[in-house]
Amino acid sequence: MDKSSINVGLLGWGTVGTGVSKILLSQSGLISQNAGVELRLKKIAKRTLPALRDGVDFPDDCLTTDPSEVVDNPEIDIVVELIGGVTDSRDFIGRAIQNGKHVVTANKALLAEHGGELFRLADENRVSLNFEASTAGGIPIIKTLRESFAANRIQSLYGIINGTCNYILSQMHEGGVDFKVVLKEAQAKGYAEADPTLDIEGHDAAQKLLLLTALAYGMNAPSEHIHVEGITKITQQDIQYARELGYVIKLLAIGKLNSAKSVEIRVHPTLLPMQSLLANVGGAFNAVCVIGDAVGPTLFYGQGAGEMPTASAVVADIIDAGKSIVGDRDSRVSRAWRTDAKPEVSLCLIDDIETRYYIRSVVQDKPGVLAQISSILGEHRISIASVIQKERYETDETASLVIVTHMASEKNMQFAMKEIDALDVVKGASQLIRIEEEVAF
Ligand SMILES: NC(=O)c1ccc[n+]([C@@H]2O[C@H](COP(=O)([O-])OP(=O)(O)OC[C@H]3O[C@@H](n4cnc5c(N)ncnc54)[C@H](OP(=O)(O)O)[C@@H]3O)[C@@H](O)[C@H]2O)c1
Repeated sequence: MDKSSINVGLLGWGTVGTGVSKILLSQSGLISQNAGVELRLKKIAKRTLPALRDGVDFPDDCLTTDPSEVVDNPEIDIVVELIGGVTDSRDFIGRAIQNGKHVVTANKALLAEHGGELFRLADENRVSLNFEASTAGGIPIIKTLRESFAANRIQSLYGIINGTCNYILSQMHEGGVDFKVVLKEAQAKGYAEADPTLDIEGHDAAQKLLLLTALAYGMNAPSEHIHVEGITKITQQDIQYARELGYVIKLLAIGKLNSAKSVEIRVHPTLLPMQSLLANVGGAFNAVCVIGDAVGPTLFYGQGAGEMPTASAVVADIIDAGKSIVGDRDSRVSRAWRTDAKPEVSLCLIDDIETRYYIRSVVQDKPGVLAQISSILGEHRISIASVIQKERYETDETASLVIVTHMASEKNMQFAMKEIDALDVVKGASQLIRIEEEVAF
């Protein structure tokens, strides 16, 4: 198409929308050099008109409270959805695509739930649906998987992709403070939402992981079939015992092609070797390690959220859409969502994985307890790599028993844990945390 300027419409002018408008307006020269076309911010829709514009300067008629002035506007070429949620956003994106507009979104929740349908619609209408900012904010991991690693079979990817959880776990490691105390502090500092469930229960990381594994393995896995576990049960004791054993606990999103040629997709707290680079990703930062068969191990690190880092990724997507409008690029979507796509691999359910485990049980402090537990582990073909027994608690004569296993089957481990927790000498439910030794760096 011969077009020297391309009109952009924003749906949503909150944290990310404001950042996008700032970049579009302040970097227009740089963008037109990179895009080969001029991008014009034509309309911005939000629910209520703002009293202040936060120093962002655009004509008054640019702002509207009517989203159809963006979605159905024949002058707009690229619609940027930054409202969040899954209902209105799905409707607006669907309409924009059917109106022949290229779409950019940062909405992982929407794509995790309705990605298949929206990508197919985009494919049918020959428009692009770009989503770089949906995962790991400013880190260009979507484009990397989609384009830079297109010649690789991805062997594994490990992501620290939820800044809230990483902040909380880092503070627990550094400050020796309990989960609940750190969560409150994170909420006060704006690192955690007032309702943090989506983050601390692992669902936000799972939504992002599904996007990454769809790109890496061409597989659109159903979210209900992947194992998702948050960080709410991690105690200060676990943090300290992990450290004694040479590990750091992180919420890790894992996609891994195993020896049975099926893909493990799981999110859970994970013990990582203390010297690994991923274990040293602190605060609210994100990192994704990708291991490709040709490229080998790679690591991407940066800010996973926030106004300007996220806006940087959104504007890169707008530029890409601009290039596809002028015919510079193929606008087709990832093979994961293509109507002609056939996944080459199957999903490995959590019961079928094999890994190493950290077990912490509170046990009665008397002879023979370790023998009972190790006998159950032995019956389930789980061998012990190391054991730490901590002194008794003065009040109730219990002690903490920490066991690290060699590689074991998850199914066997779950059976063993049921039997261990049913022993009279074991108090309450034991803690079970998976260990990843081979995170490449
Ligand atoms: N914030 C981040 O760091 C970050 C990072 C990565 C991805 N994301 C994703 O980016 C998206 C936007 O996040 P955000 O933090 O910018 O959200 P936000 O600050 O809450 O802003 C949302 C904006 O959307 C508008 N809006 C909501 N529903 C609308 C509707 N039905 N019609 C028109 N406008 C509507 C709101 O308008 P009113 O203000 O008038 O209500 C507001 O301007 C989300 O999908 C989020 O998951 C955010």
